[in-house]
Amino acid sequence: MYALAHAVAVVGVRGQVVAVEAHVGRGLPALLLTGLPGASVQDARERVRPAVENAGFEWPLRRVTVNLSPADLRKEGPGFDLPIAVAVLAATGQVNGDRLTRYALSGELSLRGALLPTPGILAVAAAAARGGLAGVVVPEANAAEAGLVEGIGVIGLPSLSRAVEFLRGSWSPRALPAPVEPEPAAPAVDFAEVRGQGQARRALEIAAAGGHNVLLVGPPGAGKTMLARRLPTILPAMSREEALEVTLLHSVAGLLGPGRSLVPSRPFRAPHHSTSASGLLGGGSTLIRPGEVSLASRGVLFLDEVNEFRRDVLEGLRQPLEDGRVVIVRAAGAVEFPARFTLVAAANPCPCGFDGDPRRQCRCLPHRLVLYRQRLSGPLLDRIDIRLRVPRLSRTELLGSESGERSAAIRERVEAARERQRARLGAPRCNADMSGAEARRTAMLSSDGERMLGRAVERYGLTGRGFDRALKVARTIADLDAAIRIEAPHLAEALAFRGQNELPGETGVA
Ligand SMILES: Nc1ncnc2c1ncn2[C@@H]1O[C@H](COP(=O)(O)OP(=O)(O)OP(=O)(O)O)[C@@H](O)[C@H]1O
Ligand SMILES: [Mg+2]
Repeated sequence: MYALAHAVAVVGVRGQVVAVEAHVGRGLPALLLTGLPGASVQDARERVRPAVENAGFEWPLRRVTVNLSPADLRKEGPGFDLPIAVAVLAATGQVNGDRLTRYALSGELSLRGALLPTPGILAVAAAAARGGLAGVVVPEANAAEAGLVEGIGVIGLPSLSRAVEFLRGSWSPRALPAPVEPEPAAPAVDFAEVRGQGQARRALEIAAAGGHNVLLVGPPGAGKTMLARRLPTILPAMSREEALEVTLLHSVAGLLGPGRSLVPSRPFRAPHHSTSASGLLGGGSTLIRPGEVSLASRGVLFLDEVNEFRRDVLEGLRQPLEDGRVVIVRAAGAVEFPARFTLVAAANPCPCGFDGDPRRQCRCLPHRLVLYRQRLSGPLLDRIDIRLRVPRLSRTELLGSESGERSAAIRERVEAARERQRARLGAPRCNADMSGAEARRTAMLSSDGERMLGRAVERYGLTGRGFDRALKVARTIADLDAAIRIEAPHLAEALAFRGQNELPGETGVA
């Protein structure tokens, strides 16, 4: 009348093996769930019984108690359907055998007893491997992602009845062929399609090489969105570790898609400006899901029309920009997600879009201009190393047939510059990740460079932070140039990206 199965609770991106105990005893027919089941697990109570009956098994007409332990961990997610169903079947003698205790089970059940695609299976498989289990029984659609974890068996099945046959030992699946890991698909866009905009192209190359955040400001139709969408095409290829992190985040967000395994290319996320704080940073009422900052991890977060985002939503970006992670605190506890992305923000210089345009008059009222610029807070802007104006194309540029350099060629230079940073910083880090002190210690300014920086401090009233920022960008430019020391021309170019006072949100602080 008692049985034990294993499930995995996923909190954030980390799974923990959970014991699912079932007891069938005297009393009126009911299913009781104990052991801190969250609202989404309570839901299983209504699903599991029809699933069991429709799969051709018997539901006991007695009092069924299911306990999830450890009891101090809140359990969320639909993945508990399968282990609860199996534990009840085992407690009524319909399943037995040693596979029951050697495998972790996870998967959402339909009322007919089919195993549906379930979020977070990669985290489930990783936890089962850490917990020393022999393998995992998961929905067929998630078998490929679970297969990314080495050292455990993955049984991907279509239904509850198959799972029961497997656990009874009356059926064994054929060995799966080793999963073929997808090659990155050729990107649909390329820098070659961008005409002119030499300075913006150069700025994005520097951003890609050093991991710097970028703000593009320009009139409508200048090509800001077009440029930003092409940034992922020049970023270096992901290492396997990075790809696994991206896959894990997309898996727990339920965005991986059936049959998918490793996410092969860097993400590009462009949330709409009406996005809420929980959409951007992560959250949710029961199950806490990663937000756009985490889904963009190891790739690009593009905030188009950044001045239209709510200010409190943008303020929330400060922690991920600073730490490369985001912590979401709820009554039930804190959940942490990785959030290490390159930020590209785009904005018009003013509400009508023509402020600073040599040929069109800006028609914005002064107070609206002030409000518009206040949207981008100083502290957020402070974390953007490269800011530049993207002008409207001239007639010759527009009509010219000359196409720009291809992404693949730019990417080669970016990879070489990253390699130099790895060698200097001693880890897979980039110049943008350096602290101010570290930048000053390792930057290697030439004496010319030093003199120039000294003059800039006086002439532009550069603050300490502005100083560090210019130094980091200059270091990246020198890396692209394969230079050991930062020379005056590198610094001059970096100072040009320092941002002019007329940029939106600029508070006049360098
Ligand atoms: N430099 C360019 N080279 C080729 N085409 C361009 C260029 N700039 C703009 N275009 C064309 O104009 C279209 C609009 O550009 P895009 O959407 O990038 O402008 P934007 O600066 O983002 O404008 P908005 O401020 O209105 O969002 C592009 O889809 C592209 O077809
Ligand atoms: Mg745009």
